[in-house]
Amino acid sequence: MLTNKKILLAVTGSIAAYKIPSLVRLLVKGGAEVKVIMTPASKSFVSPLTLSTLSKNPVLADIAEDDSWANHVMLGRWADIFVIAPLSCNSLGKMANGLCDNLLQAVYLSATCPVVVAPAMDEDMWKHPSTKSNLQKLSAYGNLIIPVESGELASGLTGEGRMAEPETIVEWIMDFLKKKDELKGKKALVTAGPTYESIDPVRFIGNHSSGKMGIAVANELVSRGADVTLVLGPSTIKVNDVIKTIRVKSAADMLNACLTEFAGKDITVMSAAVADYTPVTIAEEKIKKTAGTLSVELKKTTDILKELGSRKTKDQLLVGFALETNNEKAYALKKLESKHADMIVLNSLNDSGAGFGYDTNKVTIFDKKGKEYSFDTKTKQEVAADIVNTIIQYKDENK
Ligand code: CTP
Repeated sequence: MLTNKKILLAVTGSIAAYKIPSLVRLLVKGGAEVKVIMTPASKSFVSPLTLSTLSKNPVLADIAEDDSWANHVMLGRWADIFVIAPLSCNSLGKMANGLCDNLLQAVYLSATCPVVVAPAMDEDMWKHPSTKSNLQKLSAYGNLIIPVESGELASGLTGEGRMAEPETIVEWIMDFLKKKDELKGKKALVTAGPTYESIDPVRFIGNHSSGKMGIAVANELVSRGADVTLVLGPSTIKVNDVIKTIRVKSAADMLNACLTEFAGKDITVMSAAVADYTPVTIAEEKIKKTAGTLSVELKKTTDILKELGSRKTKDQLLVGFALETNNEKAYALKKLESKHADMIVLNSLNDSGAGFGYDTNKVTIFDKKGKEYSFDTKTKQEVAADIVNTIIQYKDENK
């Protein structure tokens, strides 16, 4: 339930605003105190009188009246959560780029509470690269995104871009507020991305890992209240500013960063695709092309997960990943045991939509007590939530 929860709700200029009276009603019925901010454009779609009546609070619209101003800083501090629904392309663009020409933007820029957006737009706008990159920016700022739905759109077309239904938004908020302190006070370490092993000053051996899965796990741990350190190999994905990110290049750099950071971490999730081999020597000058073949001699890198597994105390929980193409379960269980992990997250390259580069993944988790948890193909953020839920469940069951 939402009893005594303080919800600040901003409405922007989108046809989906017609659903906001229902959303306000559901939130108030659930016991929340709701204050509504409206952008000028939103008033063409829904009336301030309706929203002030349903929220039982005056609607806030202007930064300043003739003789007073709305305290945008205090609004962000008052709220347990700031919800922007529907989020139009225009407001999204302003939020992503720090513009501040209305009350919503001023509150957004000063908000210290969690911010969640429910975008709404027509499919073609939704698919535009600027929309994607603006949403990525919001994620990097630590904002949360309630996924859009597919269906009939205002244009008459059918496709992706519909705002989540009010019931879905309410459920999302309830779930978020319930979970946001689950890992409060806990420290977590996550590794993500590939490693690059230099051959000479211009070349390296790498792999196709994007870092998406590990970054999603780091975000999820943050959303549960954990203090997160991320050791990230070369990745182009923007990372939430509240995550302490240590950028590394090679497997050796990643090992050093992990050895420094591991002590005192309650939860460690090793999702990086670490190189198993690295060149024996790195040529000082660029290797010149010659006739015939070229061999590069490789030596084994240190297995970081195994190294941390040998150092972990009984209060530390260690989670590894296993990426397999065959004999998946057997190999995953072998890694769980030989690396002294508490859990191993298996993803198989045989599952469609799973593995490097995809926005989705399909995992099975094995814990060292013999339990197995299977999940469907989901977005990497949803998979991250499943992983963190399983970690919390395991911790509860094995106190
Ligand atoms: N790992 C690690 N350090 C390495 C290699 C792997 O920490 N040098 C970790 C990965 O982050 C992952 C787990 O070990 O959590 C399993 O990685 P994976 O590549 O699936 O297995 P490997 O142990 O490298 O074995 P193989 O490549 O033979 O399957």
